[in-house]
Amino acid sequence: MREGKTKKVEEFGSEVVLHFKDDITAGDGAKHDVIKNKGSICCEITGRTMKYLEEKGIYTMFLEYLPPNKLRARKLSMIPLEVIVRFKKAGSFIRRYGGNDGEDLPAPLVEFTYKNDELHDPLMCVEHLEILNITTKKIAYVIMEEARKTATLLKEFFDQKGLELWDIKFEYGLDEEGKVCLGDEISPDTMRLRRSGQIFDKDVYRKDLGNPMEKYEAVLELCRSIDL
Ligand code: C5P
Repeated sequence: MREGKTKKVEEFGSEVVLHFKDDITAGDGAKHDVIKNKGSICCEITGRTMKYLEEKGIYTMFLEYLPPNKLRARKLSMIPLEVIVRFKKAGSFIRRYGGNDGEDLPAPLVEFTYKNDELHDPLMCVEHLEILNITTKKIAYVIMEEARKTATLLKEFFDQKGLELWDIKFEYGLDEEGKVCLGDEISPDTMRLRRSGQIFDKDVYRKDLGNPMEKYEAVLELCRSIDL
């Protein structure tokens, strides 16, 4: 069994079982806590949102939700990238390029960062991906379009629920046939969700603004409208 900061992965032939842990981390692992039920909440949100995306034609790893905190999923060869789609300015975008929290971007922006805590997930251009053998330009452009489409579908979902999706991080892998597939997780850990100044995501934890689970549970309730 392989173990990361927030998940364990168990392999079974062409499938895996992902175990979502109760760990929460920020700042490349510098801040770390364990919060009861966090794993099950993020797991169920991932299962339901990926089910919604599958129904809209997006290829995801999701096969089955195994309550309370496991997912049966397609085995993927993961590409070590964090693919961020931004609708509004926030977080590292503002630190790099300036602007104000929540300011609209004129179009959805896709960014690639290299998944490497020691290097602090550096931002990468498509040229870096090919030269550093992370993936090919062709696959990078497929991922870019998939990420934009997927984020837009999730934005529409949360809009209907009265929440604004400011940005989101995806991770992709290749299936056994080499097809790009959405993996990892979709949860308040991996996106910024806001409603009139209220924060419903990991920024509650990053900025020490109280118990993040109350907000995560509220997001889960909204996602329960998606059948599993
Ligand atoms: O920090 P930054 O502004 O780059 O984050 C953009 C989005 O990506 C946020 O929704 C954040 O939660 C997510 N993210 C993530 N994992 C990281 C870095 C960012 O899920 N390692």
